[in-house]
Amino acid sequence: MKVTLSVIKADVGGYVGHSATHPKLIEATEKVLQEAKDRGMLIDFFVGKVGDDINLIMTHQMGVDNEEIHKLAWDAFLAATEVAKELKLYGAGQDLLSDTFSGNVKGMGPGVAEMEFEERPSEPVVVFMADKTSPSAWNLPLYEMFADPMNTSGLVIDPKMHEGFTFEVLELKTGETFLIPTPEGLYDLLALLGSITRYVVTRVFRRKDGEIAAAASSQRLSLIAGKYVGKDDPVMIVRSQSGFPAIGEILEPFAKPFYVEGWMRGSHMGPLMPVPMHMANVSRFDGPPRVVALGFQLANGKLIGPRDLFDDPAYEPVRQEIHQMANIMRRMGIFEPSRLPEDEMEYTALPQIIERVKGYTQEIKGDFEHD
Ligand code: 13P
Ligand code: 13P
Ligand code: MG
Ligand code: MG
Repeated sequence: MKVTLSVIKADVGGYVGHSATHPKLIEATEKVLQEAKDRGMLIDFFVGKVGDDINLIMTHQMGVDNEEIHKLAWDAFLAATEVAKELKLYGAGQDLLSDTFSGNVKGMGPGVAEMEFEERPSEPVVVFMADKTSPSAWNLPLYEMFADPMNTSGLVIDPKMHEGFTFEVLELKTGETFLIPTPEGLYDLLALLGSITRYVVTRVFRRKDGEIAAAASSQRLSLIAGKYVGKDDPVMIVRSQSGFPAIGEILEPFAKPFYVEGWMRGSHMGPLMPVPMHMANVSRFDGPPRVVALGFQLANGKLIGPRDLFDDPAYEPVRQEIHQMANIMRRMGIFEPSRLPEDEMEYTALPQIIERVKGYTQEIKGDFEHD
């Protein structure tokens, strides 16, 4: 049977500050989705959380970009926003209402990762959800999962994967998309993906048969390219096993920690920490950025799971290493590369600062002239 897996996320209020979600918000979204399940609109759902973001993981048969499904998600977020307003949580409705000022220039609406496929005899999938980072956080791990044989042995030894994968890449400033086949286009792919402020992966396809292998929430950014397309805590779906990377190959890139854009005020570089959901509340300098991986087996669209995949002592040394990487960046404080370059920051106080500095300059010059 054909199944659509839709993951739609939003931040509709932080508890406390931008550090976590309040349980009552999760309950409010669950209520709306349960009603849709009872009506038969959804086959199944699970509401996940990471930091201050709520992630609606839904299965149905209505295809991608379905208006009713998107409206359902919107309604679930509106219900949660009502609760967030009552509790006066921070930035209530942040990703829904443009009239709610939360201290940054976001508010572009929920993020979406979706795919439709014929459910295989066994269909393992992984839903990644991250907070305090941007969609380009997936660039490095997607390259390793689908194009690096030192990470994914299956590329070499599984005949179904041996022809490689095609990456769909979005240029954030123009909205142009490119299709790059690997392995032959690998160096071209990396030339783009290494530029994390400019290019993001939107989808990955298996070359042997064109099957969709991965979809990331960056896709929607093409609609608003040309404007500020900045950091939007991202989600991603990856299919696994039998001709796709094994679960362990999908998770392995996160065992080699790397720096991503985001962290405090969306304006810094920080290491991405793989955590189970119960460790996904962000306190240190509003971070470090977190990633959660929820594994499901689909059974006729039913979500069997989640298995909280980073809930494994094997990631403890990884997290220790990340504390060191975080310390090293924090020593740099407000200096680049700890702070992002000017045009990548979510906060844009610099124009006013330049005006003030010009003012000082005039005053001081005047004083000199009197002397
Ligand atoms: P599959 O080819 O069945 O996905 O098996 C690969 C695997 O899981 C080995 O770790
Ligand atoms: P969020 O994007 O997760 O709401 O965080 C914003 C922020 O400014 C954190 O310091
Ligand atoms: Mg927030
Ligand atoms: Mg967030």
